Amino acid sequence: MSYGLLKGKKGIISGALDENSIAWKTALKAHEEGASIVLTNAPIAMRMGKINELAEKVNAEIIPADATSVEDLESLFSKSTEVLGGQLDFVLHSIGMSPNIRKGKEYGDLNYDWYMKSLDISALSFHKFMQVAEKLDSLNEWASIVGLSYIAAQRTYPFYTDMADAKAVLESIARGFGYRLGKAKNVRVNTISQSPTPTTAGSGIGGFDSFFDFAEKMSPLGNATGEDCANYIISLFSDFTKMVTMQNLYHDGGYSSTGISEEIIEMMGK
Ligand SMILES: NC(=O)c1ccc[n+]([C@@H]2O[C@H](COP(=O)([O-])OP(=O)(O)OC[C@H]3O[C@@H](n4cnc5c(N)ncnc54)[C@H](O)[C@@H]3O)[C@@H](O)[C@H]2O)c1
Repeated sequence: MSYGLLKGKKGIISGALDENSIAWKTALKAHEEGASIVLTNAPIAMRMGKINELAEKVNAEIIPADATSVEDLESLFSKSTEVLGGQLDFVLHSIGMSPNIRKGKEYGDLNYDWYMKSLDISALSFHKFMQVAEKLDSLNEWASIVGLSYIAAQRTYPFYTDMADAKAVLESIARGFGYRLGKAKNVRVNTISQSPTPTTAGSGIGGFDSFFDFAEKMSPLGNATGEDCANYIISLFSDFTKMVTMQNLYHDGGYSSTGISEEIIEMMGK
């Protein structure tokens, strides 16, 4: 059901790789709620991904950009305002990748070149998005910017290795730019800390199935799905959340506030 929450709004959605992607589900909802959107992803992901299929469904132009390249992002933001016919009301940063995780490196044996890549792709790119958008004056007053995080920024999850550090930086950047853009243009910046979600990025983490099940049993509401997350993102893009900024917002079915659940006690067998 559509509520017209984003009627007349324009924005960029990054990170839609396939139908499991949180960004893919968000693009479908944003379109449903009346927004005009530009889709973007890394050029390499476009070749592998199915983004054209999505673009057709949501009537969007695709502008490729490697999120680590300031030059690509300048082209993304300037072309997007051109294509959409005005400044942006929302931006979704839904980007994450760790070569160390992909190659199974432990936290005590990280390859530092890859570590820098993890940070650049998964965290600094969020800064780059906003620095470019500010310099090009691409954002409308009261625009909303959302990045996606995970609770490993606050608590240690052994298999999340350098992505945990990247998420901590990502959340800090949301505060840094939230202050700056709030003062400048009433723009709000938040991160959503999402439950484990079976996507390409999510399932790439070692032990994903086990910690997905663990989180499911720990959370009184169960894990939040990718679709639930898309709904939450839409609410943050809407005018109903105008005064929410510089927050890391848990979207996890209650996981982050639960010490232990009956299900976990049962599993322990005593
Ligand atoms: N899936 C989970 O369990 C989970 C939980 C919490 C947070 N998140 C976060 O949600 C976000 C979206 O991930 P997802 O789960 O939808 O997985 P996904 O694999 O569908 O999306 C990740 C996207 O990042 C893109 N990307 C990678 N390198 C890039 C680059 N250099 N430039 C531009 N784009 C690049 C990929 O092409 C892909 O589209 C990520 O930030 C992820 O860390 C995921």
